[in-house]
Amino acid sequence: MANEKITHIVDGALEKINGATTVDELVEIKNTYLGKKSELSSMTSLIGTLPNEEKKAFGAAIHEAKEKITNEVENKLAIFKEKELNEKLQKESIDISLPGRDYHVGSRNPFHVIIDEVTDIFIGMGFEVANGPEVEKDLYNFELLNLPKNHPARDMQDTFYIDENTLLRTHTSPVQARTMEAKKGAPIRIICPGKTYRRDDDDATHSHQFAQVEGLVIDKGINIGHLKATLELFAKKMFGEKREIRLRSSFFPFTEPSVEVDITCANCGGKGCNICKGTGYIEILGAGMVHPNVLKMNGYDPDVYSGFAFGVGIERVAMLRYGIDDVRKFYQNDVRFIHQFSKK
Ligand code: DAH
Repeated sequence: MANEKITHIVDGALEKINGATTVDELVEIKNTYLGKKSELSSMTSLIGTLPNEEKKAFGAAIHEAKEKITNEVENKLAIFKEKELNEKLQKESIDISLPGRDYHVGSRNPFHVIIDEVTDIFIGMGFEVANGPEVEKDLYNFELLNLPKNHPARDMQDTFYIDENTLLRTHTSPVQARTMEAKKGAPIRIICPGKTYRRDDDDATHSHQFAQVEGLVIDKGINIGHLKATLELFAKKMFGEKREIRLRSSFFPFTEPSVEVDITCANCGGKGCNICKGTGYIEILGAGMVHPNVLKMNGYDPDVYSGFAFGVGIERVAMLRYGIDDVRKFYQNDVRFIHQFSKK
């Protein structure tokens, strides 16, 4: 009688297991048939009421029934898990015939590429790299460079003033005064690459922010021949061995004599074309022999020491090197522009 009931329960359970379609359903079936409140469990407590000779067989029958149901549930669960895994694998399968994605490696702004090149060239000639602040005192930016307050030549550099005595440096030349003040001796052989600012309206050839590399050499017996040889070597390394330079007389308050340095036009080789406006030359930088007043104001006796200085516009060098026609492109961060200069 009791065995019949057990068989009935097992048959019912197997039928349900068979019909189950989800893991959740299986778990529920398992709880119903094998849990503490299941029929089989409550039948276990009947053992005590049975005559001794029946106890063993009855207990074994319940145990067997539970084991059968457990096995069936486990088998079905295993089938479900395998199915689930196969579906997952199917979904996550990788199509190895797809072409790979192209990852873009960032590239450096040509502006920085040129600063590094210029720096390397001068380091190769024995120069050291010096630095100075972009927010500068009027004293270093103008006064110690022979440009006292109200000097008309201040108009050459339209200035962003922060207060009466503080400004955004209009050129890297204040680093000359700062270096002389810090060194108080010779020889000095420095360059200073850095950002500079002027109150210019931005257009294709002007930018309110730009960069220069300043150069300063001070020692006993420095003459304009040293200046010319140094800048000639720089021009050839930067623009090519065939380039020649020429010095044109000019004016800067901090140098005497002052010169503007031109290089032969790469386009026509010096014959004259529309790029060099028929002159055969293109201006690249300003330079000169350090003015005796500047030496004196910064603690150097002009009867003992002499020196030369120069200032190169970085964007101008980059524009000439790469044929870039608009200075604003350096600051617009258009990756299509910047990527053209990446070294792949
Ligand atoms: N500071 C000048 C400018 O920004 C460039 C310059 C000219 C720098 C002559 C020099 C120099 O050191 O000697 O226009």
